[in-house]
Amino acid sequence: MDMLIFNIGALVSPIGKTAKAGDAQGEVMTISNAYIYIQDGVIVEIGQGKPDYKTQQEIDAEGRLVTPGLVDAHTHLVFGGWREHELPLKLSGVPYLDILAQGGGILSTVRATRKASQEELQMKALAALKVMLAHGTTTCEAKSGYGLDMQTELKQLRTAKELNKLQPISIVSTFMGAHAIPEEYQDRRDAYIQWLIQEMLPIVADKKLANFCDVFCETGVFSANESKKILCAAKSLGLGAKLHADEITSIGGSELAGEISAISAEHLIAATDEGIASLKKGNVIACLLPATSFYLGKPYARAADMIKAGVAVCVATDFNPGSCPSNNLQLAMNLACWNYRLLPSQVLTAVTLNAAAAIGLSRETGTLEAGKRADVLIWNCDSLDYVFYRFGENLVKTVIKDGYIVAKN
Ligand code: NIG
Ligand code: FE
Repeated sequence: MDMLIFNIGALVSPIGKTAKAGDAQGEVMTISNAYIYIQDGVIVEIGQGKPDYKTQQEIDAEGRLVTPGLVDAHTHLVFGGWREHELPLKLSGVPYLDILAQGGGILSTVRATRKASQEELQMKALAALKVMLAHGTTTCEAKSGYGLDMQTELKQLRTAKELNKLQPISIVSTFMGAHAIPEEYQDRRDAYIQWLIQEMLPIVADKKLANFCDVFCETGVFSANESKKILCAAKSLGLGAKLHADEITSIGGSELAGEISAISAEHLIAATDEGIASLKKGNVIACLLPATSFYLGKPYARAADMIKAGVAVCVATDFNPGSCPSNNLQLAMNLACWNYRLLPSQVLTAVTLNAAAAIGLSRETGTLEAGKRADVLIWNCDSLDYVFYRFGENLVKTVIKDGYIVAKN
């Protein structure tokens, strides 16, 4: 099966197979009057004009903007229920961590996820994935962490794996059994951590249910020392390390991420200069989640300082029922541009190549180049600036995944 996309007004893409940091974050290739020739789901050639190939499918981009498909490198995709009942609490100023400490927040989603069947979780996540695809996400990450027991964590991870077969978005799984201390272990946190390390992690690794392990390193959740124990155990089993670090308070999360060379550190709202220096030293990708800052009414992470310090920045949604009930990566892109004061080209790299690198897929996707998967977006406009100038409306026109048209708006 082959395909030619021609009459592309502006083809804009970062270039390369590894994350871009510093000045390189904003350096993207722009080709006018471009074409992309695709064979069997892979980009074979990119050029200018219209080549004289006989192809099975031709798509006239009618002068529009074309970019790589978006990569959402941080989601909590599979969960039961929602948490709209927390809205009045949040509006009245009850802090996110207080709701959790009172047995709500993550723990209330844990109760709903334990109750839900795998079919129910699957249907719910499938509906979310459909919206994500229509908004241009062609690859995403999915974390577990709403089970906190063997059966439910496995149910979440199996759901994510199954979803790969049921719809076009490629899903990479992350095990996040260290998302909170479950209610039944409230007074025995060491026992829970022991159980995670000795019982749960080996099964996740053995059954190949996740590529990464993530820990919520936060005041009242897991300390930096506890996070280190869990992530070192995960690494010794072949899983990559990720870390929810400095989301609300700075307790050494970004310092730890650098020390253990985590593939990425997430949130980083409260990251200090020392934390940022440690990320740089450990070659850690900063996975920033501006829609969570918006939703929690928190400051925005110091993206420009991170880029200046030579840290590669990725932007993702954090889709989850508590701190970010939105899976629209375009919205996160807008928020990143205006609140981090990043240029459109820097944000594009953040949601494509750097995001792919944050989930270990930058050799396969995240740019428009020969040899990469044909994950391509045709936008309903002709310049990258327009994508960031408008907001609140889906600006993607056509989504192509692995060489097939999978969504049209
Ligand atoms: O990234 N901080 C921890 N995890 C999620 C929120 C999960 C929830 O509130 O359900 C986050 O913000
Ligand atoms: Fe998160």
